[in-house]
Amino acid sequence: MTGGDEKSARAPTADELAALLHFYAEAGVDSAVEESTVDRFEESRARTAAAAKKPSNQEARRPPAASATEKPVPAQPPSPQQPEATVPDEAAITDARETARNAQSIDALREALASFNGCNLRFGARSTVFADGNPQSDVMFIGEAPGRDEDRQGLPFVGRAGQLLDKMLKAIELDRTRCYITNMIPWRPPGNRSPTPLEIELCRPFIERHVELVGPKVVVFLGNVSTKALLGTTRGILSLRGTWSEYHPNSDTAIPALPTLHPAYLLRNPAAKKLSWQDFLSVRDRLDRFSG
Ligand code: URA
Repeated sequence: MTGGDEKSARAPTADELAALLHFYAEAGVDSAVEESTVDRFEESRARTAAAAKKPSNQEARRPPAASATEKPVPAQPPSPQQPEATVPDEAAITDARETARNAQSIDALREALASFNGCNLRFGARSTVFADGNPQSDVMFIGEAPGRDEDRQGLPFVGRAGQLLDKMLKAIELDRTRCYITNMIPWRPPGNRSPTPLEIELCRPFIERHVELVGPKVVVFLGNVSTKALLGTTRGILSLRGTWSEYHPNSDTAIPALPTLHPAYLLRNPAAKKLSWQDFLSVRDRLDRFSG
């Protein structure tokens, strides 16, 4: 046996296993895969069907019609209903719309979102990242989705991209007491992958209601995802950035909206910061017009 073989035959230490698990979690692994494939959605459908067939508590308590010699089976206490992942469908989108529409305040929306189980992203996330900042302010920034740090802290834009955003805000005399910050998607997608079109549709009613309830004078879209989803365009952020248009959270409301580059993009492409600087100056100019 060579030295290398000896090393690979050795059982991993607890620290090595912890490092491996950490690596998997960072890479977006959210479940263990077995040798043969298992359709978890089918399992969940079967459980739901079985639960629907189960006799009601009242029926379960009814004495059995069987012979008197048979021992009665004691009624089972109802098992607590754990929310679980299912295949989202049109009904889930309708449910999202109704849930969001019924929220009459920002706090009610926060609570409604925290208990909404229609989007499977929530099952892999630690937090429902709702918003940060001042809902009374004139400007609302809408990013993409929480990353690792945001998921851990439960607040939007607190990681490296968030620190850059804070610097950019400071450069135009804003901070988190003078603006409001949220995301298109409130749950971290595994491994920071892009949200799917279905996930975007499931979350859209909540961000639309969020904007309605906050009522900002100006909306700034940070990056491709919120820009495309909320402006309803397929054009990319590099061609849309810096040009004002209107965002319509409902058919009666038009809010001046500016798409700009996502701070995470700027971390990867620092040369693009000069474009963002122009966009942020343009935001400052708009805000000054309201206050002046
Ligand atoms: N990127 C986003 O789009 N939102 C965050 O909250 C953090 C990083």
